[in-house]
Amino acid sequence: MTRKSTSAEGITRGLPNYGDPGFSLFLRKAFIKGAGYTDDALDRTVVGIVDTGSGFNPCHGNVPQLVEAVKRGVMLAGGLPVEFPTISLHESFSNPTSMYLRNLMSMDTEEMIRALPVDAVVLIGGCDKTVPAQLMGAASAGVPAIQLVTGSMLTGGHRGERVGACTDCRAFWGRYRAEEIDQEEIDEVNSRLVGSVGTCSVMGTASTMACVSEALGIALPGSASPPAVTADRMRIAEMTGTRAVGLAQDGVGIEQILTPAAFENALRVMLAIGGSTNGIVHLAAVAGRLGLSLDLDAFDRMSEETPVLVNLKPAGSHYMEDFHRAGGVPMLLHQLGDLLDRDIMTVTGRTVGEEIDAFTPFPQDVIRPRENPIYPAGSIAVLRGNLAPSGAIIKRAAASPDLLEHRGRAVVFEGSADLAARIDDDDLDVTADDVLVLKGIGPVGAPGMPEAGYIPIPKKLARQGVRDMVRLSDGRMSGTAAGTIVLHVSPEAAVGGPLAHVRTGDVVRLSVRDRAIEVEVSDEELARRAGETPQTVPTGGRGYRKLFLEEVTQAEAGVDFRFLQAEDVRGSVPRTR
Ligand code: FES
Ligand code: MG
Repeated sequence: MTRKSTSAEGITRGLPNYGDPGFSLFLRKAFIKGAGYTDDALDRTVVGIVDTGSGFNPCHGNVPQLVEAVKRGVMLAGGLPVEFPTISLHESFSNPTSMYLRNLMSMDTEEMIRALPVDAVVLIGGCDKTVPAQLMGAASAGVPAIQLVTGSMLTGGHRGERVGACTDCRAFWGRYRAEEIDQEEIDEVNSRLVGSVGTCSVMGTASTMACVSEALGIALPGSASPPAVTADRMRIAEMTGTRAVGLAQDGVGIEQILTPAAFENALRVMLAIGGSTNGIVHLAAVAGRLGLSLDLDAFDRMSEETPVLVNLKPAGSHYMEDFHRAGGVPMLLHQLGDLLDRDIMTVTGRTVGEEIDAFTPFPQDVIRPRENPIYPAGSIAVLRGNLAPSGAIIKRAAASPDLLEHRGRAVVFEGSADLAARIDDDDLDVTADDVLVLKGIGPVGAPGMPEAGYIPIPKKLARQGVRDMVRLSDGRMSGTAAGTIVLHVSPEAAVGGPLAHVRTGDVVRLSVRDRAIEVEVSDEELARRAGETPQTVPTGGRGYRKLFLEEVTQAEAGVDFRFLQAEDVRGSVPRTR
């Protein structure tokens, strides 16, 4: 019995070297036939499916069903689907921080794609670091690739209030810390915040990267928003499998999709969704794999001309389910109109412009028109100054307007342990006008640039009703968090950046209008302090930690490893017009 053959290189691709290629293929086929395959099955376009299911990753809890649906789609197109595992990262199960492990996952992804005989690959990711890791790895591997996200979790209900991870996790914890709710209620809501498997239900990093993937053209139109447990999500998975066969047969390489214009559309969408600041770091890392650097100042200018249109928490009030029903990314692209490059090619084989024209908009109130935005422009601002010569960022849309221009006395914490030891001390000398400064949580410092930039309000101030203060660090913050928080200060304290030399009592000036983050201390005094207490850059003893500390780059370069970046820099994004 012979069925239609659709093979590209298929099973013959990338044979291991036994000195005799004929024997190598003979051996490979003999082994896989041990799993019951026929020659007909093996003589087809092979689509690898990256399976990131893990018992420790509830954000990927639907991966077994997604793999089934992708397989169905591949087979409907006459291809052979074969799944294989890689590392899986969940935010809450990645000690010391998922960011520490993102590059390891990207290396795993890259090398397995390279090693296995796949004509195309479906990347199933979802939780914050997984999609960036997969895009980084696939960009370097160069095989035709298509991203499939696991989709968001459902929201839950608590005493009549709709709740979802993890903006509401933070809000409830803040209320508990302020002693507004008791132990019984915090225990009760713990079982309500995550309504199902899937990724966080707000515009955190996972949702941001899902939308960014769609905007890059590496995921199918409409694929970012269907919740994890819906029929829409399974249909997207099936269609993704089908399309992967087409990508392989058309020979559409990932570098034809991830072009400078595609990154520009992705950055634009990240701003318009009020996306996570982590998206900046991740896009810088993916772009870096293709020889493109992120131009922070050009990004700031792009921010200034981009309104926030999507009304989702933490900047707004809705959840991903609502975004999906409102039309998701296709509706957003329609609203963005001429702010996008319509000519970029997507994995569908059609341009973004063609996909926008194929979409029929309808009335809804989650994705606003440009005339009536959630936030007019400049949702993320890039700051510079003597505290951050290589840049820092602030998510202005999630900050308190009255704190955007602020001078205050620095209250300095030397690291996470120091913060934990003193922040809730009733004797801590701090007022609401002070600036909380946290050092040592940058890429090298923690290590892994944890999301500890969301410094809690000191308990004694929280009890008095203080909800926001200017906070500053070399770390990141969760996309689900909000506050007047300066992040990604570069160079970080651990490598001797000026942040290392700020002391309690110094005056720190934040001016988003002037794009400035400064400590009112002279260069001479900072240099004197640097000489007095020189910074010892931490080194790892052995293993991955050693590799990490020796090779990791700063925030503006994506916190990628130097040796993983493209060898030649071809340009920067966004390009200056
Ligand atoms: Fe996985 Fe939020 S913890 S997406
Ligand atoms: Mg997160």
